[in-house]
Parts: sequence; C-alpha cells; structure tokens
Amino acid sequence: MEWWKTATIYQIYPRSFQDSNGDGIGDLEGVRSRLGYLKDLGVDAIWLSPFYRSPMKDFGYDVADYCDVDPIFGTLADFDRLLEDTHRLGLKLIIDLVPNHTSDQHPWFVESRSGLDNPKRDWYVWRDPAPDGGPPNNWMAFFGGPAWTLDERTGQYYLHQFLPEQPDLNWRNPAVRQAIYEVMRFWLRRGVDGFRVDVMWLLVEDALFRDEPENPHWQPGQWDRGRHLHLYTEDQPETRQIVGEMRQVLDEFDGDRMMVGEIYLPYERLMPYYGTPERPGCHLPFNFHLITQGLPNWTAENLRRVVEEYQASLPSWATPNWVLGNHDQHRLASRIGHAQARVAAMLLFTLPGSPTWYYGDEIGMVDGVIPPERVQDPAALRQRGVAGDQGLDPGRDPERTPMQWTPFAYAGFSTVEPWLPVNPDYPERNVESQDADPFSMLSLVRTLLVVRKATPGLLEAPYESYKAPEGVFAYLRGRVGLVALNFTGEPKTLAVPPGEILLSTHLDRYGVVENALELRPHEGIILKLS
Ligand code: GLC
Repeated sequence: MEWWKTATIYQIYPRSFQDSNGDGIGDLEGVRSRLGYLKDLGVDAIWLSPFYRSPMKDFGYDVADYCDVDPIFGTLADFDRLLEDTHRLGLKLIIDLVPNHTSDQHPWFVESRSGLDNPKRDWYVWRDPAPDGGPPNNWMAFFGGPAWTLDERTGQYYLHQFLPEQPDLNWRNPAVRQAIYEVMRFWLRRGVDGFRVDVMWLLVEDALFRDEPENPHWQPGQWDRGRHLHLYTEDQPETRQIVGEMRQVLDEFDGDRMMVGEIYLPYERLMPYYGTPERPGCHLPFNFHLITQGLPNWTAENLRRVVEEYQASLPSWATPNWVLGNHDQHRLASRIGHAQARVAAMLLFTLPGSPTWYYGDEIGMVDGVIPPERVQDPAALRQRGVAGDQGLDPGRDPERTPMQWTPFAYAGFSTVEPWLPVNPDYPERNVESQDADPFSMLSLVRTLLVVRKATPGLLEAPYESYKAPEGVFAYLRGRVGLVALNFTGEPKTLAVPPGEILLSTHLDRYGVVENALELRPHEGIILKLS
C-alpha cells in the first residue's frame, strides 16, 4: 500500500518550531535538530509551510523565488541536509507549493508589470479599469478590500485574491503552467515526497470576469470577502484539469510522490478533486470538515454526522483524510478545551485514511494572546484597518506562537525574544514536562500513534457505525477494534461485545470488558474485540 494512504502528516510552521541561530525566528536547521522528537512522536511525514525566498508580507506565502530558501530559514544546503536526515529516519517530507500567486517582488511579476508589451504581461491577470476608472469588477480579496490593484504606470489593474503584494498568476497561460511544473520537478528531483498545494480551489477565475452575486447573509463589519457568493473566483472547472496535470508531473517520478490540496469546499464539490481512477487528480484533497463543521458544534451527534456524510460521499477508491488544526485556524485546545482535545486526538487517529496534525497540539498548546503592538498577521492588520480596534479579529497569530519545548527561557524555542510572544503557560505546558508525565497529552498522542500502527484494523479496515447512547460517538474498525468516545462531562455506559481495552484517553486503564463499557467523563476508549 502507498505510504500516504495511512500516513500521519505533521505540519510544521517553520517560523515557530525551533530557532537555531538566535534571531527569534525558527529555521530549517532548527527543524532538523528536532527530527528525533518527531520520530519518537510516531508521525510518518512532515509538511513544511513555505521556507522560500520571500518579502514575508504573508510570512512566506508570498514567494519571490520558488527554488531557493529564504536566508531567514537557512540555505538550500540546509534543506538538503534536512531532507537527507528526514529520510534516514524513515520519515517523508512534504513541502508547500504556492501556485496561485507569487510575491510582487518575484522577477516574473517585476517583468510583467514593466510594460503592456512585456512577454510576461500575460503571466498575471491584468484588466483595464471599469468605465468609471474603478476596478474591473466586484471581486473582493480574502484579506479585505478589492481583489484588484491599479498599476499606475501601465494604467491596468492586476488581480490578487490575497494581499496586493500577492498577485495571482494567470493559470490560463500554458507558459505559467509549465513554469510551475518545472518548480515541482526541481524539488522532486531533490527528493521531496510531495507537496501541500496552497489554495488549490482558487487557481482559476471566470474567463468572462463576471461580477459575483451579493451574499444575502453578509453583514457590515464582517470580512469583505463574504459580501459575495463565489461563483466566479473559486472552484472553476479548469482547476480540476490543472490538478490532473500536476498529478502527471508527480507521476513522472518514482517512489509514490503525492500531493495534498488545500480546498475549503463542501463534500460534493470537494470529491471531484480526487479525479477518477483513470485520470487521478489530487491524492488527498484536504477534508477540513472536522474543523469547519465539527469544532463549532463539538457533540457526538454532530461529529457522527460529519464523519458519516464524508464517508458516504467519498469515491469508493479514494483515500480519506482528516484534519483538526493548521496555521490558519484557532488552536484545538482553545476551541474545545483540554479534556475534549484528548477525545479529538483519539478520533483523528482512529478514523480511516490519513490524519494531519498541527505542531504543538500534541502538548495541548492554546491560542496565544497577542498584544496589539505585536500583531504580525497581515489579515488581522488589514481587517483592523477596515473595522478599527473594535471587534478586532485576532487573525492567525494566536495559533502560530513558538513551540514550547522546555520550562526555561523562551520555552527553549530561541535564545532571544521570538517574533511572536511565547504563551505564558509554557512553564507548565512544554514537551520536556509532558515527556516525563505518563498521563500527559503528549504521552496520549505518542501512545495513540503506537496503537494505530500496531493494530492493522485501525489502518486498513473499513469504518462501520456503532450504536451508542446520546453524547457518545462509537464506531467499529473492521470488527476488530471498537472506538467509543464520550463527548460529555457525564459518565456513560455502552453495550459492547467482550473485548480488551487497548487504550483510554486517560491512559490509566487496560484489561477485559465483558459486555458493558463504562466511559468516564470525556473519556475515549479503543477496545480490541475478542
Ligand atoms: C492559504 C494559506 C494561508 C495563506 C493563503 C495565501 O490559505 O494556508 O496561510 O495566507 O493561502 O497564500
């Protein structure tokens, strides 16, 4: 079986994982120094958020050179060393590919904006102003304001779905496609195992540049982007064709190279990104429904619905995948509390397919509180410009604070004050302390990953619904393992066939169960059926 079908993917936000050179910002050498930790944790693959040359307007999601490492993070030689050591430990390395847009400092855009006749003009999306001189249509950017910025010198607007400093590439231009496919080959030849493809569902826009219709649910004060229904800036049919081409590039290489695509879409529009068995597309189109639908309503009944609707809409041949956190979402433990974060971990690692885990969630890191003068996230800063300090969206800094390694200065992340403040709970909440505590969240995640690997049913067997009382979500994996999760603060009892407790989220009980399983408050159990 291909490795990615069951792999646990661990996301590292390189700025915040480990600083090795004392500048307060994490780097590749820092990641390399922590590979042993990741191996012990039991993950299979690492996904690195961008480390490419960048002016860092969106912290690396604005790429100025796709084929080089930003000096903040190190050098290409550092990358090669990291990749080599990752492979030596038997782990895979997935890197971020940001194909929708570049930095405005990328040489392609510098050329493109230099004149109407420049050969690279058509590498980006340029349009004449509307008759009144304003933007060509009503499209809005994700981080606020119009998705169009006027280039005074050439008199045309360029498209950017994110910051004005992140111009959108024109994916209708075959030369652009080839250029990005060459970028993929550059890294595949170096030996990477795959890509996490940024905003895969946004690559192409409507060829007629039609206005998007108003969203009747939008209210003043909410994000600008929500004003419209995105019929013309998201999920266009050509996008899936491009994904198929990306797949062909991956398939030019041996060794099961793969891609996982960032796609925030409902099931029926998400599934087509898998392609078909004859023309496969994305190996793992990210399934964000545990985040978008599960976390806001964290109950057994809702989670059962989210999981079973996904399974029902998944093509029979496709590999499922699950995510609970990333660098754009508030921390798991802040959203559902520490007790339920343990239940969530058991859920994630016992569902079929490939789980993705966000750095620091294994010690239950919570959202950082960022003082106004230290806010870094451009999304938050722009929103503040629009909405003022009132009702300020804290943006994405809270989930990007430095990894908490030790109870000592700066949590062992750095030797100087880091780019974002370390959470004040680091003296108690850190890897070193939890490592020594057999009941910690860290011990739970490690044990879950051991049990997952040691119990073939948990990796390969199909999911089967199992009847449970209100407040409990239970399912079978291959009639071998039964998972029962108590989403409430009350004790619950579940009728079960005889079995043996493999693991409790409380990490304090094992042994035989006859026919009634007593679940304590917020307890999850993996039962091996006899
Ligand atoms: C994706 C990234 C996000 C970034 C955006 C623009 O959504 O996850 O962090 O800001 O793309 O590249």
